[in-house]
Amino acid sequence: MDLKRFFIHKRKTDFRHFLTNFRKINENEVVTLLKYETKKTWVDHVLKNIDAFLLDHAAAEKKAAGMAISMISHYPDKPHLVKIMANLAIEEMCHYRSVIAFIYSRQKQLKSDQKDEYIHALHALMRKGTEAYFLDRLLIAAIVEARGAERFSLIANAMEKGKLQKFYHQIAQSEQHHYQLFIELAQFYFNPTDIDKRLNYLLQEEAKICKSLPIHAKLH
Ligand SMILES: [Fe+2]
Ligand SMILES: [Fe+2]
Repeated sequence: MDLKRFFIHKRKTDFRHFLTNFRKINENEVVTLLKYETKKTWVDHVLKNIDAFLLDHAAAEKKAAGMAISMISHYPDKPHLVKIMANLAIEEMCHYRSVIAFIYSRQKQLKSDQKDEYIHALHALMRKGTEAYFLDRLLIAAIVEARGAERFSLIANAMEKGKLQKFYHQIAQSEQHHYQLFIELAQFYFNPTDIDKRLNYLLQEEAKICKSLPIHAKLH
């Protein structure tokens, strides 16, 4: 695996710059503005415990679909968001369906959901107040999608060739697209200066959260 192939922008987040530079490098790479680079030790641990990772991944996809449905429930007055979230919920459930197919083909069974400390810590950063809360929800969702894109890409690049590797390459691209969707939604409802300032802060906090969490065979 060549970790250098996955790069993280070090420059100050500039939302306008970001939009023009958010692009697919090639089919096996993703680009995000994340400020913490996942370590090779995490990738190695996941590859040694791929069955456990698949179970956690399935739960994450199901929660992502639930999050999209929850956005629809909270913002029925925002048709642009509702249409995008309806598509996203379906796409996340398609991911879920693919992951459980891999789990069952390996003769494993699903387990009850566990608390996701990473998501919990990010949610604790959400501000109160209708507008601030809405912007934070969009930006935190974007960051979660970006982290998924980064980690699925790292796994795919480190894996032996095969169906599962192909799946992780595809899903990395899909999660990167979701990251873009949430940033574009933020741009639709908020001004670039507010987005830039808040996104920078949340990215810094997300980096601290990632550093503080133990390495285990989970997405986060
Ligand atoms: Fe997904
Ligand atoms: Fe996603």
